[in-house]
Amino acid sequence: MKKTILITGGAGFIGSHVVRWFVNHYPQYHILNLDKLTYAGNLENLIDIEHQPNYQFLKGDITDEQFIDQLFATYPIDAVIHLAAESHVDRSIMDPLGFVRTNVLGTAVLLNACRKYWTSALTDKLFYQVSTDEVYGSLGESGYFSEQSKYDPRSPYAASKAGADHLVRAYFHTYHLPIVISNCSNNYGPYQFPEKLIPLVIRNIQQNKPVPVYGKGENVRDWLWVEDHVRAIDLIFHHGRRGETYTIGGNNEWKNIDLVKLICKCMDEKLGKPPGSSEKLITFVKDRAGHDMRYAIDASRIRSELGWQPSITFEEGIRRTIDWYLSHPEWLEHVTSSTYQQYYQQQYVEREHNN
Ligand code: NAD
Ligand code: TYD
Repeated sequence: MKKTILITGGAGFIGSHVVRWFVNHYPQYHILNLDKLTYAGNLENLIDIEHQPNYQFLKGDITDEQFIDQLFATYPIDAVIHLAAESHVDRSIMDPLGFVRTNVLGTAVLLNACRKYWTSALTDKLFYQVSTDEVYGSLGESGYFSEQSKYDPRSPYAASKAGADHLVRAYFHTYHLPIVISNCSNNYGPYQFPEKLIPLVIRNIQQNKPVPVYGKGENVRDWLWVEDHVRAIDLIFHHGRRGETYTIGGNNEWKNIDLVKLICKCMDEKLGKPPGSSEKLITFVKDRAGHDMRYAIDASRIRSELGWQPSITFEEGIRRTIDWYLSHPEWLEHVTSSTYQQYYQQQYVEREHNN
């Protein structure tokens, strides 16, 4: 069936993989990629598909109500896959209001446009909210987050995503807007901005710079290969039950310090350095404020209802990720050439000196 799908945040890390997947797998869909191109958005991520006939890029801000209304008035949008967000916890600690603006207000503006412009045949429409497991807070040593877990966000990022999720559900109940939400664990893979742990560690080792590990490195994350998240989004988009939530995770828990050591070992091999060289760069730094201890996902609903499961092992995914970063130095150079230095200085250099 022909459809026009608005994907927000499609120039970012996960969004660019979602755009590429939908453009390549569904030639009958017209894919509109709406992105503000903040520091995290980069059209270089999509060079390989930018000339496809079913793809169109639109630069714009999801918080701009007039612009969004005009977009819905211009294009026959059938569905929204909403990924645009401020996405980094450390930045949310520096600038919480920016996160509320984009993540809460931006989501509300999009929902409201759907409500205004989707006046008939609601059954063929869909608002898909791409969210995070961080809305559920922090786990102790045992247990898992699932669709039944209570919201208990603890960082401004997580709270702003939780606020957005609540609005999405409110539009389902109040206006019968067809919605679906997925809450996914930490993604990794090509095109991730080097403010997040895995690409930051790879880049610092490449440049022989200290590898910062927060606190004692005991915190645990459940890592998922980004294309496996995209496959889950495709399944939920086409077959997920409307009004429902799906939790997605890699069943792949790693303590930060063990993960960093694994990357060090792979980097030594790839760079032909003596075993143990990269580990010497590990530097324990001041912990993140309110640092969530552990995230882990019970993905049994999406597994049993939609037949989804991760497609590759973590060892394979990390190898592919490192290979990608090592073979794309120009990408890293471009994304870190402007305001990145200023962020790095504030987050890692000034903070340490002030203690
Ligand atoms: P990202 O920071 O790499 O990309 C975000 C994109 O949104 C960028 O292209 C940016 O330019 C765009 N954007 C920001 N503000 C905008 C605005 N006001 N208007 C239009 N576009 C704007 O983020 P990501 O890691 O790819 O995450 C994408 C989504 O997935 C987010 O909603 C995030 O909460 C969610 N998520 C991420 C992870 C993860 O591990 N990265 C895990 C689960 C869920
Ligand atoms: P991150 O990639 O920022 O994802 P999130 O905070 O959303 O889980 O961080 C992953 C984990 O790595 C988290 O526990 C914080 C930690 N971390 C470090 O130890 N050092 C770093 O430089 C960064 C960016 C993160």
